[in-house]
Amino acid sequence: MERFIQMARQLNREIMIESRNPFDPVCPVNIPFPWRILGCGNYAAVFYHPDYPSYVVKIYGRDERGLLEEKKVYERLGEHPGYSVCYYTEKRFLILKRIEGITLYDCVHKGVKIPESVIRDIDEALYYAEKRGLFPNDVHGKNVMISKGKGIIVDVSDFYKKVPCRMWKDLRKAYFKVYKPVFYRFPIRIPYFVLNMIRVGYRYYRKLKLSIKKGNK
Ligand SMILES: Nc1ncnc2c1ncn2[C@@H]1O[C@H](COP(=O)(O)OP(=O)(O)O)[C@@H](O)[C@H]1O
Ligand SMILES: [Mg+2]
Repeated sequence: MERFIQMARQLNREIMIESRNPFDPVCPVNIPFPWRILGCGNYAAVFYHPDYPSYVVKIYGRDERGLLEEKKVYERLGEHPGYSVCYYTEKRFLILKRIEGITLYDCVHKGVKIPESVIRDIDEALYYAEKRGLFPNDVHGKNVMISKGKGIIVDVSDFYKKVPCRMWKDLRKAYFKVYKPVFYRFPIRIPYFVLNMIRVGYRYYRKLKLSIKKGNK
């Protein structure tokens, strides 16, 4: 582990992470060899090293305050099969357990079937988090992975925000109303630009609903 921490430090020093727009994922400009990227989110980019396949390094590109919260959330969660594990943190990066698998977002993109049991796994993991006094937040297709057939939440950075989040409820509804009857039976690949349109469309839909709600008060 000590050796890996040193390597993660060096990666952190060498890497440049760009954030163009607060609503789009951050993006690394350079990836030092032999690190590989696993994904980007709104705050951070996640990498692994081929010699240490069971760890990942999550490096924050913006809003590093979130990192401390994420660390605290992992402490609160303890070990649970529905989550990763945080082994180590520094100012700008965390070392987490690597989850080998595919995000729900990529399942839809690649036409990989998402079984109902995965949705139930996530429900259970969220219930567990609530019991531990956390507020599940920002649980969407890129933050949930299927690993060995089980659903795992890989991003808990917003579980400290005391605001209700409808995302998982909406996603769940979409799963049972649209995905299960249509895409599960006829798996087709959905291009990224269509998924991106759904993502942006969803943001506007929620904003609109919120403003209608406020208007009604
Ligand atoms: N522990 C992990 N193991 C494997 N892949 C991961 C892990 N954590 C994150 N990822 C991948 O990296 C992406 C970005 O990580 P995430 O934690 O969601 O960042 P952000 O907080 O910026 O949204 C995820 O969508 C997922 O594809
Ligand atoms: Mg994320």
